[in-house]
Parts: sequence; structure tokens; C-alpha cells
Amino acid sequence: MKLESTKINQEQNTTLDTNRPAIRLSQSQLDINDSDLSVVFQDFQGNILKSHGRSHSRHLFLKFNTDLVRNREWVGKIASRLTSALEQHQTSLDFKETGNEHLFTGFMLSYSGFKALGIEDKNIPDDKAFRAGMKDVEFRYDTGPGGLHKRTINPLNDHLENWEEPFKQNIDALLILAYGGESLESKKSENYLDEAVEKIKAEIEGTATILSIEKGYTLRNGKGKVIEHFGFADGISNPVFFKSDFQSWEEKEGTDLYDPSAPFGLLAVNDPGGRSAVNSFGSYFVYRKMQQNIKGFNDQTKQFASLLSDAVGREIDSEFAGALAFGRFKDGTLVANSNQNTKSLLNNFNYDEDIEGLGCPFQSHIRKTNPRGDTNRKSQVPMHSERNHRIARRGISYGSKEMSPSSEWTDAGLLFLSCQSDIEQQFLVMQCAWSDNPNFLNEGTGTDPITGWQNAKPDKAAKKWQLQIDGKKVSIDFSYRDLVKIRGGEYFFAPSISFCKALNLNHS
Ligand code: HEM
Repeated sequence: MKLESTKINQEQNTTLDTNRPAIRLSQSQLDINDSDLSVVFQDFQGNILKSHGRSHSRHLFLKFNTDLVRNREWVGKIASRLTSALEQHQTSLDFKETGNEHLFTGFMLSYSGFKALGIEDKNIPDDKAFRAGMKDVEFRYDTGPGGLHKRTINPLNDHLENWEEPFKQNIDALLILAYGGESLESKKSENYLDEAVEKIKAEIEGTATILSIEKGYTLRNGKGKVIEHFGFADGISNPVFFKSDFQSWEEKEGTDLYDPSAPFGLLAVNDPGGRSAVNSFGSYFVYRKMQQNIKGFNDQTKQFASLLSDAVGREIDSEFAGALAFGRFKDGTLVANSNQNTKSLLNNFNYDEDIEGLGCPFQSHIRKTNPRGDTNRKSQVPMHSERNHRIARRGISYGSKEMSPSSEWTDAGLLFLSCQSDIEQQFLVMQCAWSDNPNFLNEGTGTDPITGWQNAKPDKAAKKWQLQIDGKKVSIDFSYRDLVKIRGGEYFFAPSISFCKALNLNHS
């Protein structure tokens, strides 16, 4: 297999009309081959509308030096190597046909990064969380869905003193390099990326300091399925932006019970500094380094299984207990009452037949983060409003591959990345108003057992599990605790490629 990073059609069609809007933010089921949209897809970075799909990555966190002109020149230079949405599609087709690997390159800036490049305020994206930055724990957010609630400071309950040193510093930019397909042995991809990183190091010397390099990789189970460190299939349910991906769900299992499609505007916003006022877009990214307590999860799941067994009067295994925490079994299938015909479906399901949460518990990770109509049923929230809180997850695992470690808190976890067009109303609502909120969706539901721990006071954690097992209703008091620790993070904006290209040409 050849190791190649050839650019495919990067500069095609440069005479496109940039003043006529080619896309609407409300548009869904996009066609990547639509020539009218290529003006947008050539300027919009990859790994936003769809995951880059590479198996290995390097996240380089950068701090610019004070020489504004040099900073801009370097960004202008790297711009020609950024992988656009269109190029990502073309390289993935090429990989499928020829097996040739292609380097993915993505670039994003924090608010301080825009400042370090001397960008005028009017050309800096205006999302308030992005501008405040993740380390500003004094900034007040309204994480009530719809913005109707009291503003609170530090809704994520971040303890910056526990963050890793590089993340405590001022991060200006994040450069993502990714490489490798399923068939490539880890070592080859690792070596390729190490070389690519060395080149970047040489090129940015004197311009920027690399604060940290996070190494990500796609963890897989014995059947080749992408999993996370607790062993559960991951990346199954994500908003779908392309028509071809929508059609493939439709063919596989239907979309009548759950429509995975999402409009472009769920994650895209006009880039105020882009080449075109109407066709240059960017997206906001949330980055959270989340260390996972694998032994803690395994041990606590055994305890939970034992309590379930006592309550039901037969042995309940850890597989089922863990599935209740996530809402899915390790292979991704839904945990549901046996009389529900949605059990074998991966994404074409909703909770209409489980309105009491007796099959898939209200506090389970997937029901907390995507209630699939629960808020409409409970509080008459219009379906489109609930769906507007969705995010596109683009995270990747990091650290040790040991899945049954003998000690807690091994160096392993998730480099969580999500794209959205409004950080407060999407990521923050999902994390704070839903996962961390013990009363979402009902009084006493408890917090999300996987990620809702941060705000969970002992009496508020995912405590009361109301379930129906073997046709019998049971109620169990059990709290998962301390499964994920935040080790750092930042809010970024992935600008249009034309914005980056223009940086070494002009100075405003
Ligand atoms: C270490 C931390 C995390 C782990 C181990 C984890 C794991 C998982 C797993 C196994 C799934 C089910 C597979 C799938 O549907 O793709 C899932 C789904 C999901 N997670 Fe997480 N997750 C983590 C953090 C987060 C965070 C911080 C958020 C957002 C605040 C989040 C939002 C979601 C969403 C939106 C879904 C899809 C739910 C659906 O559409 O049904 N996750 N996660």
C-alpha cells in the first residue's frame, strides 16, 4: 500500500461566483457532487460535515509569538494544505478505490488566536462562549434551552487546577493532522504522522510554540467496530448532513422513527473574514480532553449488576447493567424492553413506546444527550427546537489501549470534539441543562452516569433507576461516580480556507 498525501483537485474551479448565495443554512441532505455547492465545499474545512475518517491523529496546540506578520504568513502558508470538505470527500473515494492514504489537515483558532493574528474585531466570529474562552469560569451563561433561565457562571463546573499544564496556558490555535485507514497498521500511520509533526515543528520555529501534542487513534473492538474506552460502540448516532449518508440509513434500517438529517446551519455560520460574505463558512469547535476511569466503570457496573440481580431475583450480568448506563449495549444495540420492536435498530428509534423510561432509562447517556422527542412529550417543546440542540461529534480516543486495567485513572480517554453553530445553545445545553441536570427529564431522574458526574452532588447523581425487567417494575438506588475527568479544553472556530489564505496577503 502506498503512503501518499497527494492533493486532489484542491484548486479546481477558482472562478466561482462568490457573491451569489449557493447554499441556505436551512438546507439539509446536501449533495457533495452538486457543482453549485462546490464554491462552499472548497472553502469549508473537512471534519465538520462529516468525520475525516482517518484512524490516527495529532492535535497540535499552538501559542503564537508576538510577530504578527510572521504569524499571518505561517497561517497563510498552511492554508494551502488544509483539507476542504470537498477534498475530504475526494480523498475518501480515492482511498476506497486505490487504497491510497491521504493526510487530513485541519486548523482552528481560539479568540486569542484571532487577536494574535491582528484580526479586526468585526471579522472575528461572535459566539459568546467562543469569545469568553473555556477558561473564563466567571462568564455567565444561560444554559436553559431557549435561553429562558437564570444566567450562571462556570456551568461546566470546570476545576482548572486539575487541568494538565499545557491547557492552563493561553491556547491560540489547534492544528489537526490525521492519517491512516482501517487496513493500515498503527505503526505506519504513527510514523507518518510523527514525520509530518517534525515538518510542522521546523516550519513554525520562531513563529509559534507547541504547547501540547495529543495523539488520537480509533479504538476498535475484535469485530472492527469503533469503540470508546469503556468498550461501547461509538460514533453511531450523529446528525447527517449529506443526502448519500441519509439514504444509506434509509436503506439499512429506515428513517421513519428517527430522522438523522440536519440542516447545514446546525454547525455552519458565515465566516466574517472569509472570501465571500455569502459562501464562506466556518464552525465552532468544543475541545475537551476527557480521561476515563475504566476500572471504575467496570467495578461499579459489577456492583450495579448485583443490585439489579437482587431486585429481579435472577442473575443480571454486567453487560446489561452497563447498557443501562449508556442506553446501548456494547455492540451498539438499544437497551429496551423486550416487547419493543426497536431493539435491533441502531438509529431508527425513538422513545414513543417507552415514555416512562422503563426500557432505556431517562438518565442513560444517549437519552440525556438526545431525548428524541421526550422534551416535546414532557414540556411541549417543538421537535425542531429540541433537534436544534444537536451537535456533531468528531472525537477520537487517546492513551493506553488496555481495556481491563488493574488501577483506576489510567492515561486513557476521549479527545472530545464537537462542532456546532452556537456553543451555548448546543454543547452547553446538552452538557449542563441535560446531562448534568438531575431533574432532566423528570424530577429525580439523576445525572448522566457517564458525563454528568461533574455537577453531581452525592444526593443528585444518577440514583433512582426505574426499570422494567422480565415484565416486573423495579426501582434501584445506585450512583455511578467519577467516571470521567476533564484534563483541559478550549473553544475554537474553524475558519474558511479563504480566510486563512488571505492572511499573508493583507493585514486587516
Ligand atoms: C468520555 C466521555 C464520553 C464517552 C465515553 C461517550 C460515549 C458515548 C457512546 C458509547 C455513545 C453511543 C454511541 C453513539 O450513539 O454514537 C455516545 C453517544 C452520544 N454522546 Fe457521548 N460520550 C462521552 C462524552 C460525551 C459528551 C461530553 C457529550 C456532549 C455533551 C456527548 C454526547 C453524545 C451524543 C449527542 C450522543 C448520541 C446520542 C444519540 O443521538 O442517540 N458524549 N457517547
